[in-house]
Amino acid sequence: MKSDIKFTVTEDGTTGLYNNLIKDIYHSRTGALKEAFEKFIYPAEIEQLLKCKNKINVLDICCGTCYNTKAFLSLVNGENVRVDCLDISKEIVFLSPFLNDGIMDIEMKIYILFEMYRNKFEIGDILNNLKQYNTDENNPYFNSAIVSFLKDFLINPHINEPINNYLSFLHNIYYNYISIDNRFSKNTNKYANSKIQFFIGDARDTLRLLNSVYDVVFLDAFSPQIDPTLWTIDFLSLLKQKLNYNSVILSYSKSTPFRSALKELGFVTGKTFIENNDMGTIASLNKDKIKFPLNEYDIKLLDTKSGIPYRDADLNSTSEKILSGRKLEMELSHRMSHTKFLKFYKKQ
Ligand SMILES: C[S@@+](CC[C@H](N)C(=O)[O-])C[C@H]1O[C@@H](n2cnc3c(N)ncnc32)[C@H](O)[C@@H]1O
Repeated sequence: MKSDIKFTVTEDGTTGLYNNLIKDIYHSRTGALKEAFEKFIYPAEIEQLLKCKNKINVLDICCGTCYNTKAFLSLVNGENVRVDCLDISKEIVFLSPFLNDGIMDIEMKIYILFEMYRNKFEIGDILNNLKQYNTDENNPYFNSAIVSFLKDFLINPHINEPINNYLSFLHNIYYNYISIDNRFSKNTNKYANSKIQFFIGDARDTLRLLNSVYDVVFLDAFSPQIDPTLWTIDFLSLLKQKLNYNSVILSYSKSTPFRSALKELGFVTGKTFIENNDMGTIASLNKDKIKFPLNEYDIKLLDTKSGIPYRDADLNSTSEKILSGRKLEMELSHRMSHTKFLKFYKKQ
C-alpha cells in the first residue's frame, strides 16, 4: 500500500496524493484544499441551501482523504448536516484526520477520528496504518498537531490492549478535551449536529444499499479515461434514484461522455466557474440550479462520437471492459467524429 502512494505538497501548501499503480492523482497540483472549495463547495452554494433547508444531506463519492467533506464541514459551521462518505480504500480514508490538509481546526480532525470509531473502524487499525509513514514533526505531509496529540498511541501503540481503552480514550478527548466550550457544557461541541458515515467498498455496490436522498453530491472519482467505472450512464442512473428535483451533482470532470450521460438521463448540465476559470461540471434536474448552462458548442459536441457514454449495464464491469466497449461503439457509430466536428464548427 505504502509504495502505491506518493505524497506531494500541492501549491496551496496542502498534502496531495498520487497513485503509482493507477497512475493518477488524488488531488490537483494547484492545491488539494483549494480544489475542494473551488470545484465542489463554492459551486454547490451551500449557504443558499442552508437558508431554505434545516438539514443538508451530502454524498461524498470517492471521499478518499475527505478534503471535500472537510471543506464542507468547515463552511457549514455546526449546522445540521449528514455526510455519507464512499470509498473503496480503507487505507486512504484512514489517512484523513492526519494529513496536513490546511484544516486548522483540530477539533474537526478529532471529530472525524471519532466518527471513524463510531463507524466501527478499529482505532488500532487506523493508527497502525499511519505507522507505515514517516510522521515526524518535520514531515510536511502530516499535521504535527494531531500527530503529537496522538504521539503516545503512535510511539507506544497500545494495540494489544482491549478495544475499550481506545474507546474511552476517544470519548475522553471528544467530550472533555477538544472544545473549551465542553468544559462548561457537554452538549455544545461544534459537530454535535453533524454525522458522517463511511462506506468502504466499490461505490457501485454501496450506493445500491443507501436509502437516503441527497441534496448535494460530490463525484470525485479518478479520471474517466483511466477509470470510467463511476462515470458510466448506468452508475449515474443509479445515482439519480438517490436524488430529488433540486439536488445538485458537482464534479471536477468536464468529460464529454460524462456530460452526455447526464443529459441522456434528463439532467440539466452546466459549468462551474471561479473567476472566469472553468472548473468542472454541475448537474441538476432543476434548470434553475444551473447558473452557467453548457453553451452551443458543448451541447453539439455531446452528439458526436465523443459524446457516446461509458456503459456498465450490470454495474460490475472492469475499467478495461468499459473502455473497450465504448471504443467499439464509437467505431460502429455513424455520429460525426470529434475531429470532423472541430473542422465543421470552425467553418460556421
Ligand atoms: C481522485 S481520488 C478522490 C480524492 C478524495 N476526494 C480526497 O479528498 O482525497 C479517487 C478516490 O476514488 C476511490 N475509488 C476508486 N475506485 C472506487 C470505486 N469503485 N468505488 C469507490 N471508491 C473508489 C479511490 O480510493 C480514491 O480515494
